[in-house]
Amino acid sequence: MVATGTENQSGKAFYVTTPIYYVNDAPHLGHAYTTVAGDVLTRWRRQRGEQVWFLTGTDEHGQKVLRTAEAKGVTPQEWCDKLVEEAWKPLWRHLEIANDDFIRTTEKRHTDRVREFVQDLYDKGEIYKGGYQGPYCVGCEEYKLPGELIAGEGEYTGKQLCPIHKRPVEILKEENYFFKLSEYGDKLLAHYEANPGFIQPESARNEVVSFVRQGLQDLSISRSTFDWGVPIPWDDEHVIYVWVDALLNYATAVGYNQNQDKFDASFPADVHLLGKDILRFHAVIWPALLMANGLRLPGRIVANGWLLVGGEKMSKSNLTGISPRDITSHFGVDAFRWYLLRAIAYGQDGSFSWEDLAARYTSELANDYGNLASRVAAMVGKYFDGVLPEASADGDAEKAIHDGLAKAVADADRKIGDDVEFQAGLQAIFDFVKQVNGYISEQEPWKVAKDDSPEGRARLATILYTAAESLRAVAVLLNPFMPASSQRLWESLGAEPALGPLAGQRVQDAGEWGRLPAGATVTKGAILFPRLEDKPTA
Ligand code: MSP
Repeated sequence: MVATGTENQSGKAFYVTTPIYYVNDAPHLGHAYTTVAGDVLTRWRRQRGEQVWFLTGTDEHGQKVLRTAEAKGVTPQEWCDKLVEEAWKPLWRHLEIANDDFIRTTEKRHTDRVREFVQDLYDKGEIYKGGYQGPYCVGCEEYKLPGELIAGEGEYTGKQLCPIHKRPVEILKEENYFFKLSEYGDKLLAHYEANPGFIQPESARNEVVSFVRQGLQDLSISRSTFDWGVPIPWDDEHVIYVWVDALLNYATAVGYNQNQDKFDASFPADVHLLGKDILRFHAVIWPALLMANGLRLPGRIVANGWLLVGGEKMSKSNLTGISPRDITSHFGVDAFRWYLLRAIAYGQDGSFSWEDLAARYTSELANDYGNLASRVAAMVGKYFDGVLPEASADGDAEKAIHDGLAKAVADADRKIGDDVEFQAGLQAIFDFVKQVNGYISEQEPWKVAKDDSPEGRARLATILYTAAESLRAVAVLLNPFMPASSQRLWESLGAEPALGPLAGQRVQDAGEWGRLPAGATVTKGAILFPRLEDKPTA
């Protein structure tokens, strides 16, 4: 991993952000994907013992939200309040998202600071008034370049469409204020060059570099045809372009121009997580705005690919949006949090399907992992009255497990905590689960149990201790992904102290063998992941 800029800055929290989402509708699976990723990264780094600040929120200004509210016959503020309180915040609570703050761009703590930021740019000569005419996509809230558009078909024959939303663009002609973005191309390229890890994955970095190399146009940063936004401080005929308003949330939420101590303790973000649809805003416009105002640049911009349903980017506008609650009601919150990060390489596009989810749930969670946990607990119950025995006869097979765990911990910690590659990290953890299953099948403790000799008992004790101690480590490693089931497993193993970052259960120490004390009370708690046919249907 190439860390850029911010990590290890003393006294500064590791600062993670998600995009702030448009509140034109309720959240769908695509929004939950990035938010869960941010939560897992946050929990992982917290469980390393680090201080982390995790921010999410909502983007409430602009035409997209305004038009939705108008169509519903309410004010945009009423619409936003309702959706934030009834849909967005409750979903994040339901999905156990451990964000430290939730910023709304209609809050005064944000709007006042946005005006100050833009005024500063104006005072520095970074903004001028000019005219612009071009194709605009309200879905993206962005002027498009004519070369990017695609020709419409069917009902849209003869029209030019946005390549992302597949809806006709509108030709907008406005007198606007412009930010001198075109002057930042060389500085941005120099920054990408000096910080190869700034944009992740590689494909995203390449796309941004070639986009900037083509030359940047100045950015229209105000709108005068509607008023749902933050007024330009020196000209209240204009509101600030929703993307400038939105990007600034990453600064305003942590005390920009308001609370210097807090700002210094968090800003800039170490990791901005976002979908590749909004990569350029984050990797081009955002750093240019920061440079223009003399602020430090973020550490990394990490783009996720698109979740596809039937080959299309999942979204409400093409009616492929799937509600996360439809999934959690059947599979549970933990499996939901695990699935997308497990099934899709972070940064690549990937298809969601119910069949794939059910198949992976059954093979990996219910069979490999859940079943291992219940078998081990049942055998400790049956052969040792639920008291974890001591391992006194470690041999090559046990040594292989110790080594396998050490490797899983090192790989998972690097992949998840450093590289933000959840799939590879989970692969390392579940490879280890498979290894422990293989160990049990080979050692056949149920046969060893028939041997009542002291050697036989010692062997049986060693096998079951090895399996239980392996599960203890797995509970630590999976805790950031699946907090509820990890906790249940932890309790069933009689492990102490509490699971989590505060009690010394650091992820990087999970491989330290022998943390589970012999004598612990092992109970066969509730099944971790019930078989699907055994689950009550939603
Ligand atoms: N409001 C802007 C972001 C401003 S950030 C300063 C916005 N909002 S959005 O509601 O459209 O959310 C976009 C984000 O949601 C994507 O960047 C991505 O993180 C997530 N996703 C939405 N649909 C998605 C998929 N189908 N697949 C993957 N991620 C998706 O853009």
